[in-house]
Amino acid sequence: MSSSCRVVVLISGNGSNLQAIIDGCDDNLNADIVGVISNKPDAYGLIRAHHSEIDTSCVIAYKNESRSEYDSRLLAAVNKYQPDLIVLAGFMRILTDEFVSQFLGKMINIHPSLLPKYTGLNTHQRAIDAGDLEHGASVHFVIPQLDAGPVILQAKVPVYTGDDATVLAERVHEQEHAIYPLVVKWFSLGRLKMLEGKAYLDGQLIGPSGYAPD
Ligand code: GAR
Repeated sequence: MSSSCRVVVLISGNGSNLQAIIDGCDDNLNADIVGVISNKPDAYGLIRAHHSEIDTSCVIAYKNESRSEYDSRLLAAVNKYQPDLIVLAGFMRILTDEFVSQFLGKMINIHPSLLPKYTGLNTHQRAIDAGDLEHGASVHFVIPQLDAGPVILQAKVPVYTGDDATVLAERVHEQEHAIYPLVVKWFSLGRLKMLEGKAYLDGQLIGPSGYAPD
């Protein structure tokens, strides 16, 4: 891809992953964040975007609005930016199949676990409760099934005796900030694709635990 990749980032909260990608764009990710969309008006990530002069929109759910009504408004907000890539960075809504189907192979998510372990919420506490010795984060393509799309890259962290969910989340976050910009870069350089439900980097099939150099 020669021209810069147009990226829209969807957030709900702090936006530390958004910040890592903003910083990465400054360091030549071959990507431009053309818009940040939040479902929460008080998401700190919106302030981060303003500081970097990135356009923002808020798509707040109405009371009693159905998921598909919400997602059609979200779709309109996203399409306004004509993105090449949609990055879910702590966007805490489940997306409808209809929405996801519009962006197959063009939407990625970061999830705070070593998928396929611990889809859904409270992943850090669940890893601690299970007595896991390692935990981590996964970047994956988004498919209609929740947190089930092909993994692109994972980062592992140790779980130490006495860790609580806050400490463990911080350790995972640090790794998220390293892997997410890298995946955005791969995509924006045209190196990363999803074909028939599988992820490929430079034409090579990525294994179930994500890319791992030999
Ligand atoms: C991140 O830890 C991300 O993995 C998680 O939300 C956090 C957002 O942090 N995402 C999910 O749980 C999605 N299921 P941030 O707002 O500081 O980037």
